[in-house]
This record gives sequence, C-alpha cells and structure tokens, in this order.
Amino acid sequence: VCLCKLTFFILKVCARHPSEQIHACNISWWTEVQMGPPDPILGVTEAFKRDTNPKKMNLGVGAYRDDQGKPFVLNCVRKAEAQIAAKKLDKEYLPIGGMAEFSKACAQLALGPDNEVLKSGRSITVQTISGTGSLRVGANFVSRFHNVSRDVYLPKPSWGNHTPIFRDAGMQLKAYSYYDPKTCGFDFKGGLDEISVRKIFMYLFNNNPFQKIPEKRVDPRPEQWKEMAALIKKRNLLVFFDMAYQGFASGDIDRDAWAVRYFIEQGHNILLSQSFAKNMGLYGERVGGFTVVCKDAEEAKRVESQLKILIRPIYSNPPMNGARIASTILNTPELYKEWLVEVKGMADRIIKMREMLVSNLKKEGSTHNWQHVIDQIGMFCFTGLKPEQVERLIKEFSIYMTKDGRISVAGVTSANVGYLAHAIHTVTK
Ligand SMILES: Cc1ncc(COP(=O)(O)O)c(C=O)c1O
Repeated sequence: VCLCKLTFFILKVCARHPSEQIHACNISWWTEVQMGPPDPILGVTEAFKRDTNPKKMNLGVGAYRDDQGKPFVLNCVRKAEAQIAAKKLDKEYLPIGGMAEFSKACAQLALGPDNEVLKSGRSITVQTISGTGSLRVGANFVSRFHNVSRDVYLPKPSWGNHTPIFRDAGMQLKAYSYYDPKTCGFDFKGGLDEISVRKIFMYLFNNNPFQKIPEKRVDPRPEQWKEMAALIKKRNLLVFFDMAYQGFASGDIDRDAWAVRYFIEQGHNILLSQSFAKNMGLYGERVGGFTVVCKDAEEAKRVESQLKILIRPIYSNPPMNGARIASTILNTPELYKEWLVEVKGMADRIIKMREMLVSNLKKEGSTHNWQHVIDQIGMFCFTGLKPEQVERLIKEFSIYMTKDGRISVAGVTSANVGYLAHAIHTVTK
C-alpha cells in the first residue's frame, strides 16, 4: 500500500500540469553530484576491455583463470549443481541469517570441526553476501556495538575495498605496517610498533603461515603470529580476520586457517569474514559467512539476535543458490574430497606461474632480485613495480594492473608468462 501511494504521488507531480511536466522533467535533482573516480581495481578491468591489443593481459582482478586464461568452474561445483537441480527444491526466502547447514559447515571449515568454540556453541555464523557483504555486516556490527573505539587498524597496503567498507560503516581508518617495500616482505617490527591500545586490529588473512622460504614472505611466520597474538591480547584489542582465500595459499585449507585457529586457541574472541568466491570459484554466486566468537553461548545468542536486526533492513536475507552449492560440497564427503584436490590444483598452478615468471625474467637478462615473487603466496603478488613502470606496462604492452604494482598471478598462463617477463624486464632495466 505504502509503495503504491508513493508511486502515485510521483506520477501526479509530473502529470498534473502538462507545462509543469516538461519543466519537472528538466529539473536536475543531482547538480551537486560530482563525477567519481573509477574503482581502482574494477577500473583496471574497464580499461582492459577497451584495449584492442591481442596480447593484452588483465592482472588487476583477483579471479582465477585456467592455463588457457579462461574462467574456471570447478567439477565439484558442476556436480553439486546437478544434485541440487535434481532435487527440484523450492525458492522460498532463507532465514535472515541464511541457510543453517551452510553456516555450520562454513564455520567448521574455518575453525576446524572439533573446535571447542563450535562444540560449546559460543560462536554465531551468519551466511552473508560473499566476503564483501560479510565484512560490511561485521563493520556495521562493530560500529554499532564496539563502543570503546572507532579506530580500525588496517594492514598497509590492504585490499582496496577494506577502507570504504569500514569508513562507510562509520569507523575511522588507521594503518599498521604490513609490507616493507625494501624487502617486498612482511614488516613485522613496524606492525608491532603501530598496534596500540583498544583498537580493532584487522588482519588481511589470505596466506599461509608455513612458507618454504619464510624470511621474505608477505605474511607473518608462525613465531611472528604467536608474538602478535600475545601482544594483541596484552593490549586488549579486538581482532577481525578477513579470510577470503582459504586453501588458495598452500592448497591446504587447514594450513591456511592456522592463524585464525591459533588466535582462538589463545583466547581471542575474534570476528571472521569468509568468502567462497575464490576457493570454490563461486564469485558471482556471492557466498560467504560472518562469524563472531563470543565469551559463551548466551552471549552468542544475544549477538545473533542483533546481527539479524542489522541485516534485515539491508538485504533482508541472503541469496540461496550459491549457499546451496557450497553447502552441498562441504556436506557431501565425495564432493568435499574432490574440492580439496581442485583447490590444491588452483594453488599449484599459481605457484608454478610465480616460478615461471621469475625464471623468464632471468632468461630476459634481468639482474634484479625477484625472489619475493616466488616467496609471496596466494593469488596476488606485490611486484615492487613503481607507478611509472606500471604506467609503461599498460601503455606500451597492454598489461593491466593496479598502480601499486600488485598483480593477480591467476591471470598469468604458460602462454603469456614470457611476454609478461619481457615487458617487466623492459620497464625495469
Ligand atoms: C582480501 C579480500 N577480502 C575480501 C574479498 C571479497 O571478495 P568477495 O566479496 O568477492 O567474496 C576480496 C576479493 O577480492 C579480497 O581480496
């Protein structure tokens, strides 16, 4: 009724006097609206699409590609879809917090099925609109209920969307050192120095703490994690993990979740965002989860009630299709097994491309030390390229990436790695 009235009212304004109608239609309500800049990551894709060079490469966006450069749908996903289709399920609304069997499996995947937190019921997981939706629900929750401080310390650099997500939720963004451009590695000392009292410490968790050459990796090593966990506890900080790539770093979902589990073991009641975009290739399906680890089951119930109150006026309830796929995979032993193999396959291809890029750079005659390209793990690589070098790669070679020199290794293939190495060598000579 309300909506109908509103529609009727607008029509009436336009239609009452024909002369006014023309005038009304020429009225601009939005003269104050300034043209905004393109999204730094999605803007790269837009520029890439316009480029007609057949050798063009898009290394901006973090979506996995197979070795032919094609989007990749996992076999386990295809099988889950067939099973779901055969059931001829209905399309009723999901509850506000999403599909219960999905949320349970999602939390088990991150925390480990035997985690005491899950057994005692002192956590709550809601299904969210992928990782971004999860982060935003988390940011809104923190903004509404974490009254101690509005400061969020983000790693520097961080995923480009972290800042607007938290800023739009009303938080104040600060940065802690994470990446040392001199070594292209994790800035442990800087990070520790900048973590101060009563702030939210947010960790961009996309990698694996057990790397083969630990000295120059971008993520902390286990001993560093341990030191950080102890310091963060002493300073009473709330920790928010963003785990958008579980399984993508090492190919092993348990190894990649090590730090999350360690923090919980050490008594940190963390917040956690999860995404199934990358590790199940469900990008456009928008499947994710948001977990709050609480003091006890009673607190978890209260938090759950407030999460529902928060979600309801934003999107009412989450979409079901992707959650059905992820839930079917996580809850069907054969599909789960197949998924683990496929995640490892994706991780391995990325590791291989890192190695091929470095060996091709050497073949080109580059004398720079590119070891960090191999040492870093996960989908992305901070190459250390400067903005002017990135500019040249775009202009002269049609190789697109974000200005900070970050490349998505998933966009590199056996066929184009040589071209990429040649181009990088040319601009870094
Ligand atoms: C660090 C990080 N967090 C979260 C996300 C969220 O992605 P999505 O909303 O597609 O799950 C991404 C995507 O690129 C990411 O890189």
